[in-house]
Amino acid sequence: MCSHATTRLPLGPYDRVFVLTGAGISAESGLATFRGSDGLWEGERVQDVATPRGWKRDPERVWRFYSLRRSAALAAQPNAAHTALAELEERLGDRFFLCTQNVDDLHERAGSANLVHMHGELFQSCCDSCTRASFRDEQLYLTKSDHALCDCGGRIRPDIVWFGEVPYHMERIFEELARCTVMLVIGTSGVVQPAASFVHWANEHHPQREAVRTYYVGPEHPANAAAFHKIFDGRASEVLPALLAAD
Ligand code: APR
Repeated sequence: MCSHATTRLPLGPYDRVFVLTGAGISAESGLATFRGSDGLWEGERVQDVATPRGWKRDPERVWRFYSLRRSAALAAQPNAAHTALAELEERLGDRFFLCTQNVDDLHERAGSANLVHMHGELFQSCCDSCTRASFRDEQLYLTKSDHALCDCGGRIRPDIVWFGEVPYHMERIFEELARCTVMLVIGTSGVVQPAASFVHWANEHHPQREAVRTYYVGPEHPANAAAFHKIFDGRASEVLPALLAAD
């Protein structure tokens, strides 16, 4: 079922909300989506910039790509959709959980706190060889001479989960999925696993699956659209403030 969000999302005092966001929520902040017509991958092949093999083959190309994304994210501001989610969290406290596939920090900058970045974070770097902890890093690595080495001799790489790597925080994500009563998915094409399957998991394996309501917000239907109870057509920054408005 589709509708425009002139209505408010019905939330009772015992509801727990699990939110999953994708690149679409940051689109109106000026950050390109991956698979849209102005998608990021258009200039670069996924396998060149978002796989461990691409990193081994050409770290300079990979760092240039993520450095450009760092500059774009530094210049961007959270939009009304990020703010609406942060305000919802303020009202619901720990009955709100946000899982984002995005690597930008716009949710935090809007005020969200109970969140995990399942695909890593743009402003974190780590070593490609040892277990040194990931660290905050806003530097741009535009040429090879900018590149940094770890004390162990390994290369410093972006702390991003690439294709073929295991997403972060999966245990926590499934704990939160198992106790939510409302699942709200925003701005993701529904093709990248495992996030694309969370809605199927909620429908089929949730301990109280009959009680879970699943919603999608975005201007196009995602590949997994049929799994949602309701779809709110429209841009996140236009739909969410009304949908999540306080009583
Ligand atoms: N509001 C809401 N949704 C929007 C908006 C908007 N203003 N603009 C675009 N969208 C939607 C598009 O319709 C599309 O379905 O956002 C979605 C973006 O899809 P993708 O570009 O595929 O991004 P995402 O689903 O987040 O990608 C998942 O793929 O490459 C990996 O790791 C990367 O986290 C990323 C993952």
